[in-house]
Amino acid sequence: MSGNVDAPLALLAELTHRCPLQCPYCSNPLELDRARDELDTDDWRRVLDEAADLGALQVHFSGGEPTARRDLGELVRHASRAGLYTNLITSAVMLDEARIALLAAAGLDHVQISFQDVDEAAGDRVAGYPTAQRLKREAAGLVREAGLPLTVNAVVHRQNLARLAAMIERVVELGAGRLEVAHVQYYGWALHNRGAFLPTRNQLDQATEIVEAARVRLKGRLVIDYVVPDYHAKFPKACMDGWGRRFLNVTPSGKVLPCHAAETLPGFHFPSVRQASLGDIWRESEAFNRFRGTAWMPEPCRSCERREIDWGGCRCQAFALTGKAAATDPVCVLSPDHSVLDAAISEAEAPSPNFVYRRIGGRPTGDRAAHVPLPAEG
Ligand code: SF4
Ligand code: FES
Repeated sequence: MSGNVDAPLALLAELTHRCPLQCPYCSNPLELDRARDELDTDDWRRVLDEAADLGALQVHFSGGEPTARRDLGELVRHASRAGLYTNLITSAVMLDEARIALLAAAGLDHVQISFQDVDEAAGDRVAGYPTAQRLKREAAGLVREAGLPLTVNAVVHRQNLARLAAMIERVVELGAGRLEVAHVQYYGWALHNRGAFLPTRNQLDQATEIVEAARVRLKGRLVIDYVVPDYHAKFPKACMDGWGRRFLNVTPSGKVLPCHAAETLPGFHFPSVRQASLGDIWRESEAFNRFRGTAWMPEPCRSCERREIDWGGCRCQAFALTGKAAATDPVCVLSPDHSVLDAAISEAEAPSPNFVYRRIGGRPTGDRAAHVPLPAEG
């Protein structure tokens, strides 16, 4: 396939995998890129230009923790001048007034801050970083004082759903215009920790009621997006809005992926921006074309009326649960593999295991909440 491929909507620029937090539900891969392998400033400038030339409208600066890159302001300025809408997705624990002013002056359009919990001790335990929730609250205030629009991303799971109503009130106090109540999605480190996070059906139903009531009560003040854990859904989500349709991810070391978890799939070669242009990779690469459109689909997707609604669900989830990347996502009730979810759902009723915290260079076990210092830039 080439030539007639639509332009992407957005580039997810994963500037670094370095991060001072260790959230056990991180969607980053288990094998994290090292600082010494990261693209440099000139590489990223070229990637941003190529994204704009390709027709992308937005860039989301993400990681890891993107503020760990000293050149973030320069990259925001460059993207802004290239005509891209710039969004910073951050844990915010490294943001202070001077850094926010610098980013605003560089043309940053929007900030998204993640919160672990309204109970600060519980949130800091998930983050693996003492004081993280206080630092996030302070940074959210500074973002609003700088006049930047703020979205809060509240990641919810079986260990904090009882406090969802209080979390929503906290977000109103912070002055955010938008809240994403995002149930953990099971990729990367989150899949490794699924038993600690997956809620029961009952917990999910109660959370959905709380969100629906808050949407009515806060109409006009706060927009609430709601991402459910699709293990409990009837049909899968349209992951990435379809493979190779609207999004591309560039990893810290320069690999170009159709989604953040694509490196978990076997038998792929993901091209690098060091060897090819973003446009060529988007249009021509085998990796982007393998699951693009509907021609690759097996039954029951191939003849299903939802095939251009959910695009057969998520390739990475299909592989993680069935060992077959091209299978119908087993979340779908029509999938012949749907019963594989039973074992996962029963984990939600069992006692929660300890967290396996996200770290560069290891897969530690144990319920530690120690602060691991941020590795230096290479
Ligand atoms: Fe979606 Fe395939 Fe299920 Fe149809 S059969 S709802 S296309 S996952
Ligand atoms: Fe890879 Fe859904 S996360 S296709």
